[in-house]
Amino acid sequence: MVKTTVSMIKADVGSLAGHTVVPEPLFRIARERLAEAKEAGLINSFYVFNAGDDLELLMTHFKGENSEEIHGLAWDTFKAAADRAKELKLYGAGQDLLVDAFSGNVKGMGPGVAEMEFEERGSDPVVVFAADKTEPAAFNYLLYKVFADPFNTAGLVIDPRMVVGFKFEVLDAIESKTVVLKTPEESYSLLALIGTTERYMISRIWRAEDDEIAAASSTTKLSLIAGKYVGKDDPVCLVRGQSGFPAMGEITVPLLHTYLVAGWMRGSHWGPFMPVGLKDSRCTVFDGPPRIVALGIQIADGKLASDDEGRPMIADIFADPAFDLARREALELASHLRRMGEFEPARLGPAAMEYTTLPQVLKQLEPRFRKA
Ligand code: F6R
Ligand code: MG
Ligand code: MG
Repeated sequence: MVKTTVSMIKADVGSLAGHTVVPEPLFRIARERLAEAKEAGLINSFYVFNAGDDLELLMTHFKGENSEEIHGLAWDTFKAAADRAKELKLYGAGQDLLVDAFSGNVKGMGPGVAEMEFEERGSDPVVVFAADKTEPAAFNYLLYKVFADPFNTAGLVIDPRMVVGFKFEVLDAIESKTVVLKTPEESYSLLALIGTTERYMISRIWRAEDDEIAAASSTTKLSLIAGKYVGKDDPVCLVRGQSGFPAMGEITVPLLHTYLVAGWMRGSHWGPFMPVGLKDSRCTVFDGPPRIVALGIQIADGKLASDDEGRPMIADIFADPAFDLARREALELASHLRRMGEFEPARLGPAAMEYTTLPQVLKQLEPRFRKA
């Protein structure tokens, strides 16, 4: 049976009023480009949306992961949108397109990518997470809860296909190497790694029983590619749900409460993760707080399940009032943290600040230091 691939590829190619939100003209270009690609038979279906200032291209196709054609399509779409952003003099136009020419795969060129290829089940629900003003390791806590914490996911205790556990691939972003750990046996060792969010991030998860793919996350570190601060690596993540995977409600319940993630203003602060619906997917207060959207989709015959007019059907999960508590907690925490200004721990520690513009400021002071 032919396998379906879900590709979530995103980039910040310019936004309205600083780093706030993707404006309509850029959406239009993305929709036009992807509609042409669908017409030409390259992709089967698509949905364009935004996480704050990031343009998000969700596509389904039969070309597999890391397909040059699909990545090329995303790159050309981002280029076209960046050109329009430049004409409009939007802010940060083309900021995530770190190289001039496409060379086969957008990974390492600026855009973020999460992809999963799988044989479709009778019905295949997927949650698409996209976040702004934070980094891929922001999903470490969420994914651990969903796939390894029985107090979060009842299925780990109740569903015979899940009691065996899951396998987590963790990327060491500093040394560019990966390790696979199996839960529940190695859950403490897994936590020992992924609690260090500055360095380790979960890249993929498989169900241990049959090695079926369960989740995939983007793992771009722009600062490590560019060697300097070029904005945060606002991440995306795909999670499969139901029938032997965590239920949709188990995948989203970690956001019943907020938790702290690195990013926010100038990529330099701890900020409370705020779940929002698409209509609130924009960053405002202190360029945030870091926001996350969750879209529920169904994969059907290689496509996003669509309505009678052929429009993909999207469940905008965090638009629900059930996430009001987390939003209120996030704002309360935001107000406490902002009172601390530039004092740690509101501001990130020195290692993370190496990749911001702070070292330039410190350098100016260097000649004034005298031996104590
Ligand atoms: C965070 C982000 C923003 C900017 C901030 C300053 O990822 O992109 O918080 O860092 O708005 O931007 P510049 O230096 O471009 O004025
Ligand atoms: Mg931006
Ligand atoms: Mg962004």
